Amino acid sequence: MTVQARPVQPQFPSGFLWGTSTAAYQVEGAAREDGRSPSIWDTFCRTPGKVHEGHTGDQACDHYHRFRDDVALMGALGLDAYRFSVSWSRVQPTGSGPADQRGLDFYRALTDELLEHGITPFLTLYHWDLPQDLESGPEGGWPARETALRFAEYAGLVAEALGDRVVNWTTLNEPWCSAFLGYGSGVHAPGRTDPVAALHAAHHLNLAHGLAAQALRATLPAEAKLMVSLNPAAVRARSEAQGDQDAARRIDALATRVFTSPMLRGVYDEDLIADTAHLTDWSCVRDSDLKDIAQPLDALGLNYYTPSLVSAPDRNGSDPVPPSRDDGHGASEHSPWPGSEHVSFHQHPGERTEMGWSIDPTGLTELLLRFHREAPGLPLYVTENGAAYDDVPDAGGMVHDPQRIAYLRRHFTAVHEALTQGADVRGYFLWSLLDNFEWAYGYSRRFGAVHVDFGTQRRTPKSSALWYARVAASGRIPD
Ligand code: NOJ
Repeated sequence: MTVQARPVQPQFPSGFLWGTSTAAYQVEGAAREDGRSPSIWDTFCRTPGKVHEGHTGDQACDHYHRFRDDVALMGALGLDAYRFSVSWSRVQPTGSGPADQRGLDFYRALTDELLEHGITPFLTLYHWDLPQDLESGPEGGWPARETALRFAEYAGLVAEALGDRVVNWTTLNEPWCSAFLGYGSGVHAPGRTDPVAALHAAHHLNLAHGLAAQALRATLPAEAKLMVSLNPAAVRARSEAQGDQDAARRIDALATRVFTSPMLRGVYDEDLIADTAHLTDWSCVRDSDLKDIAQPLDALGLNYYTPSLVSAPDRNGSDPVPPSRDDGHGASEHSPWPGSEHVSFHQHPGERTEMGWSIDPTGLTELLLRFHREAPGLPLYVTENGAAYDDVPDAGGMVHDPQRIAYLRRHFTAVHEALTQGADVRGYFLWSLLDNFEWAYGYSRRFGAVHVDFGTQRRTPKSSALWYARVAASGRIPD
């Protein structure tokens, strides 16, 4: 009889954090309670045609009232960490002036509950819900410099209130989406479609990050850890042809380097400036800005879902996804890529999730190794990764989601591969704990490891949640 050795499952380092992620507008609800003022997403959801079937975050997962149960659920699953965001318009309703104590109390209670369950809080200051008052008016929002200054003030207020209990602080989540979906393609709030405004928004988000990092350092204890969560693109050129390679370079500049170069190295790359010179002379960048932006960080967060396949403009119509594509965040006739007449996007062949995003875990390994190389010594976190599927409870009320388990298994293996090759990855946050408000898609896309019945607010852990609990408990990917 021959006994075959079972393949050894990869072991993650001890102390590797397994967590889940959410964002305030996507889960909290309680949109008009305790002094919270409207954010740009409250307004956008009420703009006809912008969000699937007019869905709003008014109630969402009612996490504002149910957070104790949700934290208990995380505790029961044995998760190590929880990444959530603070609603700016809850703690500083008009975006300037004093904090509203009721808003701060909510986050204090949430944090305490997490700590009592042994779950490490990872707090994000901005996950897209700008107070409406800061957007209103022609000079408002992220294209305006003033918004960056307001953000630093807000960061200081939250740090004063929660600095004694939160160690891990993230300034911004996916500023690419705020700038280019919010002001370029207009599929996200505030829904503006002006490529110049989008580029200026990107700079002011960079500045907001840098000024907030300074405000946090000035307020927080020395052991605080500061980071930012970006969604760099894993860009693949369709061929070695020079035009296709150039398209990939352009998208890398506009998706990734527009943030990483100033934040990590204190520069805007020359190719980015040249590619966008017909739109802006970048005079919004003042002398001291780059110094302000390039603040020392303690970690970098990467959100990864799918790679991008690009080529030179495809004029013969052989499988182009036109620049006006629905890139998985919502359809628009306006491109989120300023100057994108030089680029065509293509669908990767193969399996997709319910978002239409192709599944390719190699992009995650690639990005982790890239930042291991480009930011040596900087610990990395996967601050988001996950998949939407059409999960429906069966007759017995169970939710089986083998496709999500398969997706996660492949992506955990990809993270492990990056670790094996030397990347200093410290943790992984599954998007998302709960099915929730998926922006322009409303409640039509379910990313949760826990199913939410939005009629009753009943939570049902899917089979992926139970499987993830085994990963968290053992640090291994189960068979
Ligand atoms: C990235 C965003 O940070 C999050 O809010 C969103 O729900 C997921 N991606 C899925 O699209």
